[in-house]
Amino acid sequence: MTASLRPTGHVFIAASLDGFIAREDGDIDWLTEFASTGEDTGYDAFMGSIDGLVMGRGTFEKALTFEVWPFKKPVIVLSRTLSQAHLAEAVREKVRISAAPPAELLAMLGREGCRRVYVDGDKVIHSFLQEDLIEDFVVTRVPVILGGGLPLFGSSGREIKLDHIETTSFRSGLVQSRYRVRGK
Ligand SMILES: NC(=O)c1ccc[n+]([C@@H]2O[C@H](COP(=O)([O-])OP(=O)(O)OC[C@H]3O[C@@H](n4cnc5c(N)ncnc54)[C@H](OP(=O)(O)O)[C@@H]3O)[C@@H](O)[C@H]2O)c1
Repeated sequence: MTASLRPTGHVFIAASLDGFIAREDGDIDWLTEFASTGEDTGYDAFMGSIDGLVMGRGTFEKALTFEVWPFKKPVIVLSRTLSQAHLAEAVREKVRISAAPPAELLAMLGREGCRRVYVDGDKVIHSFLQEDLIEDFVVTRVPVILGGGLPLFGSSGREIKLDHIETTSFRSGLVQSRYRVRGK
């Protein structure tokens, strides 16, 4: 397995102006109201560009509360507490549970032919960032100050330099910025 075959990690996420991706209890009600503005924030194009998703158990459990399973691409859920047997039949075919460390997981996905992976979830993004496995970010700022919640970046303890690619603003007040991790 050569490093060049390892898929790249990509983040597409929304955050409040004060940098939270969900309320403390995981609620994203402040975000879902923007789903119906009719604006094209590039989510569909981004989803079209990736081969699969890796998300944390917290994000998976939130997705399970949606009326319809929201992902068309294969999903890997990172969890050390869930197993495949815990999954409801409706998602068992769509989701694989893994407890593999991030780099190992990406290497495995690379062997399966995966090239671009959407990395999602507060803690999982942090751990991929710590291991230098994220290539770029699309962060959409939502015009609200939540006052607390799950932080987008938290205190990672490591400085990561980014190059700003572009920023687009939308009539609804969403402001979306693209960054590439320097050197990637
Ligand atoms: N604003 C947005 O665009 C956006 C996007 C995504 C998610 N969210 C929200 O974020 C919340 C979920 O965040 P979360 O804090 O629960 O984080 P998460 O990253 O979704 O899930 C964290 C869990 O993943 C498991 N895990 C396994 N391996 C891991 C590893 N290497 N690194 C980190 N975690 C690993 C652990 O569960 P086990 O205990 O099972 O091992 C851990 O508790 C949800 O409310 C979701 O709605 C918002």
